[in-house]
Amino acid sequence: MGDKRILCVGLVCLDIISVVDAYPAEDTDTRCLSQRWQRGGNASNSCTVLSLLGAPCAFMGSLAPGHAADFVLADLQRYAVELTHVVLHPGCSFPTSIVISNVSRGTRTILHTNRNLPDVTAQDFEQVDLAQYKWIHWEGRNAAEQVKMIQRVEEHNRACAAHQRVSTSVEVEKPRAELYQLLGYGDVVFVSKDVAKDFGFQSAAAAVKGLHARARPGATVICAWAEEGADALGPDGELVHSAAFSPETIVDTLGAGDTFNASVILALSRGQSLQEALTFGCQVAGRKCGVQGYDGIV
Ligand code: FRU
Repeated sequence: MGDKRILCVGLVCLDIISVVDAYPAEDTDTRCLSQRWQRGGNASNSCTVLSLLGAPCAFMGSLAPGHAADFVLADLQRYAVELTHVVLHPGCSFPTSIVISNVSRGTRTILHTNRNLPDVTAQDFEQVDLAQYKWIHWEGRNAAEQVKMIQRVEEHNRACAAHQRVSTSVEVEKPRAELYQLLGYGDVVFVSKDVAKDFGFQSAAAAVKGLHARARPGATVICAWAEEGADALGPDGELVHSAAFSPETIVDTLGAGDTFNASVILALSRGQSLQEALTFGCQVAGRKCGVQGYDGIV
């Protein structure tokens, strides 16, 4: 298990971030406090955090060549994220987010565009040498294809010795019906507050209890709920909670969820308990909210 990596499958995009202390009114021309480019996308952000926490990791996702791709590739390399499974799509547009980060309220408003970049497919995933990885995480996107990828890992796991098995996790973040089939897959299922609310749940504890029956037997369901912390329901039906660790001053909440996921995955992959992993996830996500970007979370 030693130096096996964690693979995150999902989006990499360019975030163009404007930091403001008051959200701009429509049809006004105002100055922001600062502006920057940052590599974004849930799976790519989780890789940043894994790397900063000292875990060897790899990113699998699609790229459309151009200036934005050059920027994000250089940045992934800067964080020592392995890129063997990046799929290039010449002629497509690179996904971009305009982000308004409002420091006075701790909000981040995202306007995302992804015109025609196809997600990686189960066929692309066939190229992945599963023996290289101890954990594979999917950011829920093209769910039907992702289900096939997970099934490939399950088949691999059935055929190999316990210590060679690959653990799996999925994130269902967007409240989109197509993604809900993913709730039935993975050893660990991360659901967002938005998804929990879409199912009618008003707390993280209610969400993990209510959604556990949709997960596969033996799975863990985890839900983070901003300043209320996070709850998880483990394989044995034990409900676990961690409070949030909010920084004194909230600087930047962009990617806090991706930070939480990465930290929980890392702790579980190292054999820590669900309670330890949940607490660690909340701690690192809290530290992230206290810094701009990710440097400084460790
Ligand atoms: C944060 C993030 C941003 C990206 C957006 C895409 O979680 O991954 O980096 O712009 O979400 O939905």
